[in-house]
This record gives sequence, structure tokens and C-alpha cells, in this order.
Amino acid sequence: MDSSITVPRHLASLADLSPQETMGLLEVARELKDRWSRERRNLDLLSGRSLAMLFTKPSLRTRVSFELAMQQLGGHALYLSPAEVGLGQRESVADVARVLGRYADLIMARVYAHADVLALAAHAGVPVINGLSDLEHPCQALADLLTVLEVAGPLAGRHLAYVGDGNNVAHALLLGGAQCGMRVSIIHPPGYAPAASVMQSARAFAAQTGGAVLATTELAAADGAHVLYTDVWASMGQEAEAAGRRAVFMPYQLNQALVDRAAPDCLVLHCLPAHRGEEITDQVMDGPNSQVFAQAENRLHAQKALLAWLGGGLSLAGARVG
Ligand code: CP
Ligand code: NVA
Repeated sequence: MDSSITVPRHLASLADLSPQETMGLLEVARELKDRWSRERRNLDLLSGRSLAMLFTKPSLRTRVSFELAMQQLGGHALYLSPAEVGLGQRESVADVARVLGRYADLIMARVYAHADVLALAAHAGVPVINGLSDLEHPCQALADLLTVLEVAGPLAGRHLAYVGDGNNVAHALLLGGAQCGMRVSIIHPPGYAPAASVMQSARAFAAQTGGAVLATTELAAADGAHVLYTDVWASMGQEAEAAGRRAVFMPYQLNQALVDRAAPDCLVLHCLPAHRGEEITDQVMDGPNSQVFAQAENRLHAQKALLAWLGGGLSLAGARVG
């Protein structure tokens, strides 16, 4: 094998990053956000570069924030809708990856099977970013951690209590939170725990950083939490289970009673879209602790840091965006 060939970095999972890289991305994201709010001017960190965005599921935030992130970095994004490509049906995932890698400098993919992200990464020859798979939503967690960092200060030692399904969003929070030295508790109904493999990886990160992770069915684990987080009870692809899940998950609703158990100035987060009246009440979502729209905005800035780094526009060690 030619040792001069550089293997591209990917973000299929937050476990692909070291704790230092995750924290470095958050710092760069803060700098890029600050720069954008002061100057409202596109940078040229990725000028001439393009991002192919492949969607097999719907999206508002991921599509818009990635597209505008590329624009603000001086590059270009191309949207491929769920109806267009027929990933793995019209054409194999590997061949789609080989073709897109010839056109685009970066690929972002939103898929059902996590194996499709891995197959794209194996064959594209360019960096591949997981824009949500059934297993993980790493870009979401980067934005979430950025929001906590901005609003509450340094992450190490903060307690984030996620209440609901042990799903893709919960998995990313476990990994990212542990990488940043946080305590992450996943409070779930019986039978909806996060994957044991993700708990194991998160535990290994926590051992490096002084963080801690827990999966429990007990709401008391939210007592005194600095951050309360929830997500939909039925994820994309689980629509047929929605009615059955509603009864099981209702005791785990993020409502005022739960906010009252957390720290007085706790942050309330939700990745959105929200099903108001199900996993979160209007009172809490629109209440004084809610940061959900700042969190949605932060997808843009966190992803600019990620794209600039994976696209070769900057390095994280002593990163400068100026
Ligand atoms: N949070 C999130 O990923 O939103 P979209 O599904 O709208 O992209
Ligand atoms: N868990 C949700 C997240 C949506 C952003 C889903 O996968 O549908």
C-alpha cells in the first residue's frame, strides 16, 4: 500500500473523534459563530469545495444548516432528496459513494441503517458525515454541547439528564457528553435503553475525561440536573409504533414537574422537531429554561467547524479561523 495516500477522516460516530477533537471543534464553532455575528460575511475556508447532501429521510434543520454552513465557508452544497438516489435500491451504496466522491469534496448522509454511513465512508474516498442514522446523530450532539458550553459554561462535571427513548440522539449525547467530561444520564422506560455497545464506548470516554454515564428507568436520576433533554418517542422509521409508545413513554414526559426536580437554572434542550404535548409540554418548551431554538441555530456553527476541519480548511490544534 502506498503510504503517501491520505485516508480521509469521517464522522460516522462521535466515537471517531478523540475527546480533544470534540472539544477542539466546539472551540472552533464558538469562534466561527462569534465571527459570523460580528461580520455577517462568508469566509473562504472551503472556497471551491462542495458538499453532497444525501437524504433518505425528511429534514429541516440538517438540510438548511449544512447548506448555509457551506455557503458561509465559501463553498457549495448540493441537496439530494429522498426520492432521487434510491440508495441501495437503484444503485448499490458503494457505487453511490464512488460516484459522489468523484464530484464532491465532502458527503453528508441521512440514512436509516447506520451500515449505509459506514459503506459510504468505506468507498467514497472523501470525508463522510453522518447527518443522522438509526444508531447516532453526532452533528446534533455537537450543537447541543456547544449550546450548553455557551449558556452554562465549561462542560466538565455538568449533569445532562436525557429523558425518553435510548435512540440515535441519546447515543450521540452519551458519547459526546462523556468526551467532554460530563455526567450523562439516560432515563428511559423499561425496554428502551440505549445500546449496550454505545454505553460501553461512552463509559470508556468517561474514564478518560472524568465524566460518567448511566442508563436508568428512574426519574429521580434527573434530580439537580443542569440540562434536561428529550426527543420524540417514535423516531423516523418507527411511525407504526407511535401509538403504542405514547402510553409507555408518557410518565417520561419533559413537563414542569420534571423541570422542578432539576437545578433551578437548568437548560431545557430538544433536538426538534418536537411533538408538543407528547415528549415535551408547551409550558416547558416555551418556558424560561428552554434553549431549543439557540440549540437549533447552533447546528449551523458546529457544522461549520466540522466541515472546515474535515474539508481541510483548518486544523484543530491552535485552530484559527481569522
Ligand atoms: N434535529 C434535526 O436533525 O432536525 P431535522 O430532522 O429537521 O434535520
Ligand atoms: N430520534 C429522531 C431525531 C430527529 C432529529 C429521529 O431519528 O427521528
